[in-house]
Amino acid sequence: MTEKQTWSQRFESALHPAIARFNASISFDIELIEYDITGSQAHAKMLAHTGIISHAEGEALFNGLEQVRQEYRQRQFQPGVDTEDVHFAVEKRLTEIVGDVGKKLHTARSRNDQVGTDTRLYLRDQIQQIRQQLRDWQTVLVDIAEKNVETLIPGYTHLQRAQPVSLAHHLLAYFHMAQRDWERLEDVYSRVNISPLGCGALAGTTFPIDRHYSANLLHFDHVYANSLDGVSDRDFAIEFLCAASIIMVHLSRLSEEIILWASEEFRFITLKDSCATGSSIMPQKKNPDVPELVRGKTGRVFGHLQAMLVIMKGLPLAYNKDLQEDKEGIFDSVNTVKACLEAMTILLQEGLEFRHQRLATAVTEDFANATDVADYLAARGVPFREAYNIVGKVVKTSIAAGKLLKDLQLQEWQQIHPAFASDIYEAITPRQVVAARNSYGGTGFEQVRQALLNARTQLNVK
Ligand code: ARG
Repeated sequence: MTEKQTWSQRFESALHPAIARFNASISFDIELIEYDITGSQAHAKMLAHTGIISHAEGEALFNGLEQVRQEYRQRQFQPGVDTEDVHFAVEKRLTEIVGDVGKKLHTARSRNDQVGTDTRLYLRDQIQQIRQQLRDWQTVLVDIAEKNVETLIPGYTHLQRAQPVSLAHHLLAYFHMAQRDWERLEDVYSRVNISPLGCGALAGTTFPIDRHYSANLLHFDHVYANSLDGVSDRDFAIEFLCAASIIMVHLSRLSEEIILWASEEFRFITLKDSCATGSSIMPQKKNPDVPELVRGKTGRVFGHLQAMLVIMKGLPLAYNKDLQEDKEGIFDSVNTVKACLEAMTILLQEGLEFRHQRLATAVTEDFANATDVADYLAARGVPFREAYNIVGKVVKTSIAAGKLLKDLQLQEWQQIHPAFASDIYEAITPRQVVAARNSYGGTGFEQVRQALLNARTQLNVK
């Protein structure tokens, strides 16, 4: 970068090339170029609307900016490392196209309010795309759940078999996590969608600008009420990174389950060839790379959140160059969340199959129905804590005898407690154990069917 900088008149000599490279953000803020153009077009219109420049000048700027956009899309204009950032790059190209009037674009504006505007316009778009992807993920979860209301799967606490549940119920748990993510992003959006344009460098401007006019053109809901806050606020970025991190938590938890389910120890699912990979040395292997990558990529998004918090914590008002560091973390988080949501949705849609036979056996081979025996006694008048102790002993003796509860003779049951009758066998079948948990939000089939209807209704909310 040997060329003199836009601000260079005050300076005796050009920037040291290494320092110029160090200072520059063009290598990554090029991502903002279309938003920069859109923001500048609104600014130009506002300048003309308020009479700060003539209508003819406003039009020349607007059309010139549109040409920059087209040139960029057609790869005729490719800002290189010789410009400091995307804002200078666009302004420079604009001036080459429209001549001296291009130099009027930056009237009543600073790169500080400009970059804040661009970042918000970018994030606004990305948030809506991610919300749509959350909807796609939720839809696949509900599609699979609807087919599996009566498929039973062991439910765990402490990763120990606890009580069987409906597979649909298990999948719907992720539907609800994604629903909160979707709602959370809507909330974040409301604070992203505030215009800092016109805050100037930090203190506003001497020109009679109309901030509401440009904000309206850009479909912002509000304008920042304080110029110092407007140019230096990155709460919206922190909030977005936080929402992104929580989405990754959810994707990562599901990934972990899929990895476990695909293992020889669980054998609950088979991974299909389209979404699994082999080993370069062990010919028998099929690896769950997709969920492993999702789980692994979670770390970098958490890292970007942490970085953003640390960037902000000691910043005096107002703009400081530290804020240039917000971008790569935001871009990488956006790209990571989008890639992971897409991969997870495809994986669920076509990359795995539940092994129904194996699941049906899995829910019969343990003591996950022990609570139901205690509930059976409690329903017949035995105080629950007493019933709990009785069943504890039953489990202990069964284990010693190498038997499951279903294998005990009626006589053995009755020796334990006279309240046991022949209907105990039905009460402890996995199907009945699940069906009976019909409390609101529970895994009982009736509850799950209702939950599925509610989920479909929620999916229709746009
Ligand atoms: N590239 C800069 C950034 O991303 C643009 C704003 C520069 N403002 C300034 N006062 N140097 O933050």
